[in-house]
Amino acid sequence: MKIKNKVPLIDQHDKFGLWGGKFGGNYIPETLKKPVMDLEILFSKLRKNKEFIKDRDKHFKQWVGAPTRFIKLENLTNHLNGGQIWAKVVSDANGGAHKIYNATVHCLIAKKAGKKFIVGDTGAGYAGKMLSMAAKKFGLKAKIFMGAKDIKRQKPNCDAMKKNGAEIVPVYSGSQTLIDAVSECMRYWVSNCDTTHMCVGSTVGPNIFVKICGWSTSQISRELKPQILKEFGKIPNKVKLYNCVGGGSSSFGFWNEFIDYKKSQVEFIGVEAGGPLKSKKHAAPLTNNSKLGVLHGAMQYVVQNKEGQIEETESISAGLDYSGVSPLHCFLRDSKRARYTSASDEAALKAYKLVTKYENLNPSLEPCHAFAVACAEAPKLKKNNILIINSCGDAIKDKKILKEKLGKY
Ligand SMILES: Cc1ncc(COP(=O)(O)O)c(C=O)c1O
Repeated sequence: MKIKNKVPLIDQHDKFGLWGGKFGGNYIPETLKKPVMDLEILFSKLRKNKEFIKDRDKHFKQWVGAPTRFIKLENLTNHLNGGQIWAKVVSDANGGAHKIYNATVHCLIAKKAGKKFIVGDTGAGYAGKMLSMAAKKFGLKAKIFMGAKDIKRQKPNCDAMKKNGAEIVPVYSGSQTLIDAVSECMRYWVSNCDTTHMCVGSTVGPNIFVKICGWSTSQISRELKPQILKEFGKIPNKVKLYNCVGGGSSSFGFWNEFIDYKKSQVEFIGVEAGGPLKSKKHAAPLTNNSKLGVLHGAMQYVVQNKEGQIEETESISAGLDYSGVSPLHCFLRDSKRARYTSASDEAALKAYKLVTKYENLNPSLEPCHAFAVACAEAPKLKKNNILIINSCGDAIKDKKILKEKLGKY
């Protein structure tokens, strides 16, 4: 399986929508074929339209606050005494996480499609919060599907959604987490697609949703590349980009502009959720060599049992607690362009303690998984290694969990 140079990864699929001839596609009910095709046609026009791009960039700059900071974590670097630790502080973005890019673009598309209603899914609550913010800004009515378990553990983001006028639809089926929220949201869209646009909150779902989300979050690496060039005068010889992977939207967006570089120069490290140490459950399909399966309209590696039934996952981090993973990451793994590993709940908490002890940064539990791996690898590396972590979310939403587990926030 090979990645082509100079072709955006989101476009490297075949006529069936499959990346690497294997991942993604459109495993959808007949009734969705037309709305999905309409969306494909509209998006392919909009992404080439100069006015649309200008509008997107204006909102990213003026409203989202682009570019977010790229900073050296001096104290942490000195403490670990190995490679240099840097952070792309994506949590600077309006609302506190990368989910704002996808939400903004989806609302702009919904307006162009003449839709008045928008629905979306959320796990950590950031995708829902950002969709509620963007819907409010662009005059759309939002409905957000969220697992009942996640509603309890991510209260601050739920409060924000309500404040922005969005309706939260609690999902009580299955594990009551993101997987069930996405399923329920898609079910709703099947019966309401004439009036309603659907925003899938990560690089998952039928092919077009993977593409729109990846196209939107790529803003992260579009900003990072010139920031690295400004800082170092060139792309250094040893760059390592660490990112947590749930559905895979922040990591894909963080890496996209660097895919054509050799991995010996710019290495991608995706960190999945290993779950609690004492539990057999996890949310790490790529790390644990899970088998292929269809989930939410796409073929991908999925956490499943011997009979092929989708297995419940477990993670302290609602944003990573998902059985599947983006087809783009399945392709990046099997083509060996990216390396995937996992961090346990305990390792993520330890990383939170370490980072907040040394730095004025407050990463949510999702990016703490990436910090855990980067901080473990840094001491073994020479100083010319530049380790960059995508600090893609703010921990305000995790206040309750952090207080419970660490006794303080
Ligand atoms: C802050 C944060 N980081 C990471 C994720 C994981 O999603 P993705 O892999 O799509 O970036 C989420 C999902 O909710 C999130 O809120």
